[in-house]
Amino acid sequence: MKDSHDKALITTRRDFGRKSIQTLLTVSLLEHLCSGNLLAKEARLTTEKWLSQVNEIGLSIKGQQLKQTQWQTQVEDLLSNHIDLPELLKLINFEAIAKNPKLMNNGARSHRPRMPKLQGGPERYVFGQQIFALRKGCSVVPHGHNNMATAFLILKGNFHGRHYDRITDEEKHMIIKPTIDSKFVPGQSSSISDEKDNVHWFKAEDEPAFIFNIHVFGVSPKNKKRTSRIYIDPFGEKLDDGLIRAPLIDHDEAHKKFG
Ligand SMILES: [Fe+2]
Repeated sequence: MKDSHDKALITTRRDFGRKSIQTLLTVSLLEHLCSGNLLAKEARLTTEKWLSQVNEIGLSIKGQQLKQTQWQTQVEDLLSNHIDLPELLKLINFEAIAKNPKLMNNGARSHRPRMPKLQGGPERYVFGQQIFALRKGCSVVPHGHNNMATAFLILKGNFHGRHYDRITDEEKHMIIKPTIDSKFVPGQSSSISDEKDNVHWFKAEDEPAFIFNIHVFGVSPKNKKRTSRIYIDPFGEKLDDGLIRAPLIDHDEAHKKFG
């Protein structure tokens, strides 16, 4: 009895030792890669290339060559992995906005930075951009869109970010399913399309807090609904399968409840 117990202990210790070595190897390899910043450097684009790629995927989603969900993956990758945050901040003249963010006591203030023109690039970009500035505890209130794809990148401050899939539209409600509910830190991104994660809600946990937003209109040509925001109360009636029947509310109610 004692023998088999000892054998078991030895085997466990041996397994443990093997696993520890494997873990150490993985960790040290990762540390090596990260210390040389090899992964990061390779992935970074010049601001010109980055802008031109953001524009290109915008054209592709409008032209239906790119699925909306593919645009979402690609724009998030471009925002979070292919430009250094300080570079992007320079590009959108963030410093000027941060100096005078004109914060409001409710909701988010929208600033419209201009993107520089590219040499040999398009006269106008196919995408639009804005920066939201918020006080602590204030929100980009819960809303969805029609015929529009949009992405958020956290620039400064932490946020509590939530997304919902828009499952069905009813006359006075939207049936939604929670998809993302997590803390968002600077450099992290998320996105919306008519196909996935169509409702978002971001609450600032710091002050001032800033979000960068890229949007492309006219991504679902068959969708004749207005592009403007559709505000909802995500704390609606709970249905089966994690679904929620969220009442449609107006701008004022949305900002009173969640702003
Ligand atoms: Fe939005």
